[in-house]
Amino acid sequence: MAVTQPAASSVETRAATVRNPYSVLPNWLYPTFVVVALSLFALYAAWVVLFFKDGRFGPYLSPFNSPEFRVTVAGFAIPTGIWIFWIPLVFRFTCYYYRKAIFRSYLWHPRSCALQEPSRGTYHGETRLFVFNNLHRFAFYIVVLQVAVLWYDAVTAFTSNGAFHFGLGTALMLVNVICLSGYTFGCHAFRHMAGGGLDCFSCHRARYRLWQGVTVLNIRHDRWAWVSMFTVWGVDLYIRLLQLGALPHALWN
Ligand code: FES
Repeated sequence: MAVTQPAASSVETRAATVRNPYSVLPNWLYPTFVVVALSLFALYAAWVVLFFKDGRFGPYLSPFNSPEFRVTVAGFAIPTGIWIFWIPLVFRFTCYYYRKAIFRSYLWHPRSCALQEPSRGTYHGETRLFVFNNLHRFAFYIVVLQVAVLWYDAVTAFTSNGAFHFGLGTALMLVNVICLSGYTFGCHAFRHMAGGGLDCFSCHRARYRLWQGVTVLNIRHDRWAWVSMFTVWGVDLYIRLLQLGALPHALWN
Protein backbone atom coordinates (compact mmCIF):
# COMPACT_ATOMS: atom_id res chain seq x y z
CA MET A 1 0.00 0.00 0.00
CA ALA A 2 1.38 3.38 -0.95
CA VAL A 3 1.94 5.80 1.92
CA THR A 4 1.69 9.46 1.07
CA GLN A 5 3.81 11.98 2.95
CA PRO A 6 1.96 15.05 4.35
CA ALA A 7 2.79 18.30 2.60
CA ALA A 8 5.54 20.40 4.29
CA SER A 9 3.10 23.24 4.90
CA SER A 10 0.68 20.96 6.79
CA VAL A 11 3.54 19.68 8.99
CA GLU A 12 4.50 23.27 9.83
CA THR A 13 0.91 24.15 10.65
CA ARG A 14 0.64 21.18 12.99
CA ALA A 15 3.94 22.06 14.70
CA ALA A 16 2.76 25.60 15.25
CA THR A 17 -0.48 24.47 16.85
CA VAL A 18 0.91 21.60 18.92
CA ARG A 19 -0.35 21.53 22.50
CA ASN A 20 1.41 20.15 25.55
CA PRO A 21 -0.80 17.25 26.76
CA TYR A 22 0.54 17.59 30.33
CA SER A 23 -0.21 21.25 30.91
CA VAL A 24 -2.77 23.86 29.98
CA LEU A 25 -0.15 26.58 30.40
CA PRO A 26 1.11 28.27 27.24
CA ASN A 27 4.37 26.90 25.79
CA TRP A 28 6.23 30.19 26.17
CA LEU A 29 5.69 30.38 29.92
CA TYR A 30 8.30 27.83 31.05
CA PRO A 31 11.24 29.17 28.99
CA THR A 32 10.35 32.73 29.96
CA PHE A 33 10.26 31.82 33.63
CA VAL A 34 13.64 30.05 33.37
CA VAL A 35 15.33 32.96 31.61
CA VAL A 36 13.91 35.62 33.96
CA ALA A 37 14.51 33.67 37.21
CA LEU A 38 18.01 32.45 36.38
CA SER A 39 19.14 35.80 34.96
CA LEU A 40 17.90 37.75 37.98
CA PHE A 41 19.49 35.25 40.35
CA ALA A 42 22.82 35.45 38.47
CA LEU A 43 22.79 39.26 38.67
CA TYR A 44 21.90 39.20 42.36
CA ALA A 45 24.63 36.62 43.10
CA ALA A 46 27.26 38.70 41.27
CA TRP A 47 26.23 41.79 43.26
CA VAL A 48 26.45 39.95 46.58
CA VAL A 49 29.73 38.16 45.86
CA LEU A 50 31.53 41.24 44.56
CA PHE A 51 30.24 43.98 46.82
CA PHE A 52 29.71 42.42 50.26
CA LYS A 53 32.82 41.59 52.28
CA ASP A 54 31.00 39.02 54.41
CA GLY A 55 27.56 37.57 54.99
CA ARG A 56 27.32 37.45 58.75
CA PHE A 57 24.69 39.00 61.02
CA GLY A 58 24.95 37.75 64.61
CA PRO A 59 24.64 33.94 64.48
CA TYR A 60 23.32 34.04 60.90
CA LEU A 61 25.61 33.32 57.98
CA SER A 62 24.67 33.60 54.32
CA PRO A 63 25.17 30.48 52.15
CA PHE A 64 27.04 32.75 49.72
CA ASN A 65 29.75 33.25 52.34
CA SER A 66 30.04 29.89 54.05
CA PRO A 67 32.58 28.68 55.03
CA GLU A 68 34.14 32.03 55.91
CA PHE A 69 37.64 32.37 54.48
CA ARG A 70 39.02 35.73 55.55
CA VAL A 71 41.97 36.79 53.41
CA THR A 72 43.48 40.27 53.30
CA VAL A 73 45.80 41.29 50.47
CA ALA A 74 47.71 44.61 50.78
CA GLY A 75 45.19 45.82 53.37
CA PHE A 76 42.22 44.89 51.18
CA ALA A 77 39.84 42.28 52.61
CA ILE A 78 38.81 39.96 49.80
CA PRO A 79 35.04 39.29 49.86
CA THR A 80 34.52 35.84 51.40
CA GLY A 81 32.03 34.89 48.68
CA ILE A 82 34.84 34.94 46.09
CA TRP A 83 36.20 31.66 47.48
CA ILE A 84 32.81 29.95 47.50
CA PHE A 85 30.61 31.01 44.60
CA TRP A 86 32.18 28.77 41.93
CA ILE A 87 31.20 25.57 43.79
CA PRO A 88 27.40 25.85 43.51
CA LEU A 89 27.83 27.61 40.16
CA VAL A 90 29.63 24.62 38.59
CA PHE A 91 27.29 22.18 40.32
CA ARG A 92 24.12 23.85 39.07
CA PHE A 93 25.46 24.72 35.64
CA THR A 94 26.35 21.07 35.01
CA CYS A 95 23.20 19.66 36.70
CA TYR A 96 21.23 17.46 34.31
CA TYR A 97 18.01 19.37 35.02
CA TYR A 98 19.49 22.87 34.62
CA ARG A 99 21.20 21.78 31.40
CA LYS A 100 17.82 20.85 29.98
CA ALA A 101 16.30 24.11 31.20
CA ILE A 102 19.15 26.20 29.76
CA PHE A 103 19.17 24.43 26.40
CA ARG A 104 15.41 24.82 26.04
CA SER A 105 15.10 28.36 27.33
CA TYR A 106 18.24 30.34 26.54
CA LEU A 107 19.43 28.45 23.44
CA TRP A 108 16.13 27.10 22.08
CA HIS A 109 18.20 24.15 20.95
CA PRO A 110 16.18 21.98 21.22
CA ARG A 111 13.24 24.26 21.98
CA SER A 112 10.97 21.43 23.07
CA CYS A 113 9.71 18.09 21.83
CA ALA A 114 7.58 18.48 18.67
CA LEU A 115 8.12 22.24 18.50
CA GLN A 116 9.77 24.06 15.66
CA GLU A 117 13.09 25.72 16.48
CA PRO A 118 15.11 28.28 14.53
CA SER A 119 17.24 26.63 11.83
CA ARG A 120 20.75 25.72 13.03
CA GLY A 121 23.88 23.97 11.96
CA THR A 122 24.49 20.36 12.78
CA TYR A 123 23.65 19.27 16.32
CA HIS A 124 26.70 17.73 17.99
CA GLY A 125 25.19 16.87 21.35
CA GLU A 126 27.21 17.61 24.47
CA THR A 127 30.65 17.42 22.87
CA ARG A 128 33.50 19.94 22.43
CA LEU A 129 33.03 22.76 24.96
CA PHE A 130 30.14 20.88 26.54
CA VAL A 131 32.35 18.04 27.80
CA PHE A 132 32.75 20.48 30.68
CA ASN A 133 29.47 18.97 31.89
CA ASN A 134 31.35 15.80 32.81
CA LEU A 135 32.63 17.72 35.83
CA HIS A 136 29.23 17.31 37.46
CA ARG A 137 30.15 14.25 39.49
CA PHE A 138 33.24 16.00 40.88
CA ALA A 139 31.25 19.12 41.67
CA PHE A 140 28.85 16.87 43.59
CA TYR A 141 31.67 15.69 45.89
CA ILE A 142 32.57 19.28 46.79
CA VAL A 143 28.95 20.38 47.20
CA VAL A 144 28.35 17.56 49.68
CA LEU A 145 31.07 19.10 51.87
CA GLN A 146 29.51 22.52 51.47
CA VAL A 147 26.06 21.21 52.46
CA ALA A 148 27.65 19.67 55.57
CA VAL A 149 29.08 23.08 56.46
CA LEU A 150 25.66 24.69 55.91
CA TRP A 151 24.10 22.17 58.31
CA TYR A 152 26.74 23.18 60.85
CA ASP A 153 25.86 26.86 60.26
CA ALA A 154 22.13 26.18 60.67
CA VAL A 155 22.60 24.27 63.92
CA THR A 156 25.02 26.82 65.43
CA ALA A 157 22.56 29.62 64.54
CA PHE A 158 20.40 28.26 67.39
CA THR A 159 22.90 29.70 69.89
CA SER A 160 24.15 33.22 70.32
CA ASN A 161 26.60 34.34 73.03
CA GLY A 162 26.15 30.98 74.75
CA ALA A 163 22.34 31.26 74.97
CA PHE A 164 19.51 29.68 72.98
CA HIS A 165 18.57 31.80 70.00
CA PHE A 166 15.63 31.45 67.66
CA GLY A 167 14.69 34.03 65.09
CA LEU A 168 13.39 34.28 61.54
CA GLY A 169 16.97 33.93 60.29
CA THR A 170 17.40 30.62 62.15
CA ALA A 171 14.21 29.24 60.61
CA LEU A 172 15.19 30.40 57.13
CA MET A 173 18.67 28.87 57.42
CA LEU A 174 17.16 25.56 58.52
CA VAL A 175 14.62 25.48 55.68
CA ASN A 176 17.35 26.41 53.23
CA VAL A 177 19.72 23.61 54.19
CA ILE A 178 16.86 21.07 54.11
CA CYS A 179 15.98 22.18 50.57
CA LEU A 180 19.63 22.17 49.50
CA SER A 181 19.98 18.64 50.86
CA GLY A 182 16.87 17.57 48.95
CA TYR A 183 18.36 18.98 45.76
CA THR A 184 21.91 17.69 46.29
CA PHE A 185 21.02 14.15 47.36
CA GLY A 186 18.49 13.74 44.56
CA CYS A 187 21.28 14.29 42.04
CA HIS A 188 21.21 11.97 39.02
CA ALA A 189 24.95 11.34 39.32
CA PHE A 190 24.53 10.38 42.99
CA ARG A 191 21.67 8.05 42.08
CA HIS A 192 23.95 6.35 39.61
CA MET A 193 26.70 6.10 42.23
CA ALA A 194 24.19 4.52 44.64
CA GLY A 195 22.62 1.92 42.38
CA GLY A 196 23.98 2.26 38.88
CA GLY A 197 25.85 -0.65 37.32
CA LEU A 198 24.34 -3.25 39.68
CA ASP A 199 22.91 -6.38 38.10
CA CYS A 200 21.55 -7.73 41.37
CA PHE A 201 19.86 -5.42 43.88
CA SER A 202 19.14 -8.24 46.34
CA CYS A 203 22.91 -8.91 46.53
CA HIS A 204 23.59 -5.30 47.55
CA ARG A 205 20.87 -4.39 50.05
CA ALA A 206 22.53 -1.25 51.42
CA ARG A 207 23.13 0.22 47.98
CA TYR A 208 19.59 -0.72 46.95
CA ARG A 209 18.11 1.12 49.97
CA LEU A 210 20.29 4.14 49.26
CA TRP A 211 19.25 4.08 45.60
CA GLN A 212 15.58 3.95 46.65
CA GLY A 213 16.06 6.95 48.94
CA VAL A 214 17.86 8.96 46.27
CA THR A 215 15.13 8.03 43.78
CA VAL A 216 12.44 9.55 46.04
CA LEU A 217 14.26 12.88 45.86
CA ASN A 218 15.28 12.43 42.23
CA ILE A 219 11.68 12.14 40.98
CA ARG A 220 11.12 15.81 41.82
CA HIS A 221 14.67 16.96 41.13
CA ASP A 222 13.48 19.95 39.09
CA ARG A 223 11.30 21.19 41.97
CA TRP A 224 14.13 20.79 44.48
CA ALA A 225 16.40 22.68 42.07
CA TRP A 226 14.08 25.69 41.95
CA VAL A 227 12.97 25.69 45.58
CA SER A 228 16.55 25.44 46.86
CA MET A 229 17.64 28.27 44.58
CA PHE A 230 14.88 30.49 45.97
CA THR A 231 15.64 29.54 49.59
CA VAL A 232 19.33 30.44 49.09
CA TRP A 233 18.17 33.75 47.63
CA GLY A 234 15.68 34.33 50.46
CA VAL A 235 18.13 33.62 53.29
CA ASP A 236 20.78 35.79 51.75
CA LEU A 237 18.38 38.65 51.07
CA TYR A 238 17.11 38.54 54.65
CA ILE A 239 20.66 38.69 56.05
CA ARG A 240 21.64 41.55 53.67
CA LEU A 241 18.59 43.55 54.75
CA LEU A 242 19.53 42.98 58.41
CA GLN A 243 23.11 44.06 57.68
CA LEU A 244 21.87 47.22 55.96
CA GLY A 245 19.49 47.99 58.84
CA ALA A 246 16.51 47.88 56.49
CA LEU A 247 14.65 45.26 58.55
CA PRO A 248 14.14 44.75 62.30
CA HIS A 249 15.66 41.56 63.70
CA ALA A 250 12.71 39.17 64.24
CA LEU A 251 13.54 37.19 67.40
CA TRP A 252 11.23 34.71 69.15
CA ASN A 253 13.06 33.86 72.36
FE1 FES B 1 21.03 17.93 39.19
FE2 FES B 1 23.15 16.37 39.87
S1 FES B 1 21.77 16.16 38.27
S2 FES B 1 22.33 18.14 40.89
